[in-house]
Amino acid sequence: MMKTKIAGLGFYVPDWVVTNDELTKLMETSDAWIQERTGIKERRYARKHEETTTTMGARAAQIAIDRAGIQKEDVDFIIFATLSPDYYFPGCGVLLQRELGITKTEIGALDIRNQCSGFIYGLSIADQFIKTGMYKNILLVGAEMHSMGLQFSTPGRNVSVIFGDGAGAVVLQPTQKEGQGILTTQLHSDGTHAEQLAMISPGSHGGYHLGKEKFGFPDTEFGEIFVYQELIEQKSYYPTMEGQLVFKMAVQKFPEVIMEALAKTGLEKSAIDLLVPHQANLRISQYVQAKLGLRDDQVWNNIQKYGNTTAASIPIALCEAWEAGKVREGDLVCLAAFGSGFTWGSALIRW
Ligand code: ACO
Repeated sequence: MMKTKIAGLGFYVPDWVVTNDELTKLMETSDAWIQERTGIKERRYARKHEETTTTMGARAAQIAIDRAGIQKEDVDFIIFATLSPDYYFPGCGVLLQRELGITKTEIGALDIRNQCSGFIYGLSIADQFIKTGMYKNILLVGAEMHSMGLQFSTPGRNVSVIFGDGAGAVVLQPTQKEGQGILTTQLHSDGTHAEQLAMISPGSHGGYHLGKEKFGFPDTEFGEIFVYQELIEQKSYYPTMEGQLVFKMAVQKFPEVIMEALAKTGLEKSAIDLLVPHQANLRISQYVQAKLGLRDDQVWNNIQKYGNTTAASIPIALCEAWEAGKVREGDLVCLAAFGSGFTWGSALIRW
């Protein structure tokens, strides 16, 4: 039966390294606080005058395309996962097509707005398109330029210290090789907590209802007109997070969704050769590792160097692990993510 394989991987992170100590120049925080709570030592920030989410994605994509042994014109579908797109619209998918110089129009481009689980959602969609025979070379990119939109001051410190910039990409192709390929993908969502990890402006809600509830705006005659302005002034265009709720949900959902994937494929926890979790927080990854009884060498973490790169974190980590020789033919690789929405998911891939 036809399955989907990862034929090429690439990642790109900007060369500007920002340590925890450097962030103390912008807000009241400390290296000790950040490392103890999140495991992060440093992160990368893009150079604003040189790079965007799309250009970083294109760098990762070109590497993945080269490693897959195809030409960029062979790509027949682009999936771009990001929460920090270049523009509100159009999406990064078409911008990536242009950036790569793909001039043919016999190609589709789709943006995924599923934050931390965006790569898993993209992988699942790509898998369906490949298995039905609709496409043969799908380029899936996860990229983020968080540093453009964080609140770099003490009120925003619980969020801003966590996130970093970067991009990862894979090329997906059909495979007939016995046993090889994506074995399963599991996708979940629960919109109950949508605002607990969110950036609520700009948005069609105009800020009125959410803003009133969240910030207690007065219900004035001109409320409907000015409330949006107030929302902007109250910095609702910065991401906000109820960290403890996210932590609690993440440590529950990560193991659940991994066990679900194993059950679907009839495999045991012990069959996992490498777990590549979304790099939300080192403490979350360690909890998941302990819950699954995996050794240190069976889990790939790199949040220490790059922070949380949201949709880019899994492809960056997967590519880094692959480059380090940690992903070999026949290995069972498990990917898992949890994030804003809340949405979460997992994938099992026989390499
Ligand atoms: N530096 C110093 N002090 C800080 C910082 C900071 N960067 N951020 C918050 N604090 C302070 C708070 O102001 C608060 O002080 P107070 O007690 O005087 O009011 C105190 O630390 C505790 O604040 P909390 O927000 O309760 O901090 P907590 O201990 O929960 O740690 C953290 C925050 C690290 C975000 C934690 O909740 C967590 O790990 N949550 C998981 C969320 C996560 O990892 N999200 C990643 C993005 S989402 C995703 O990818 C799934």
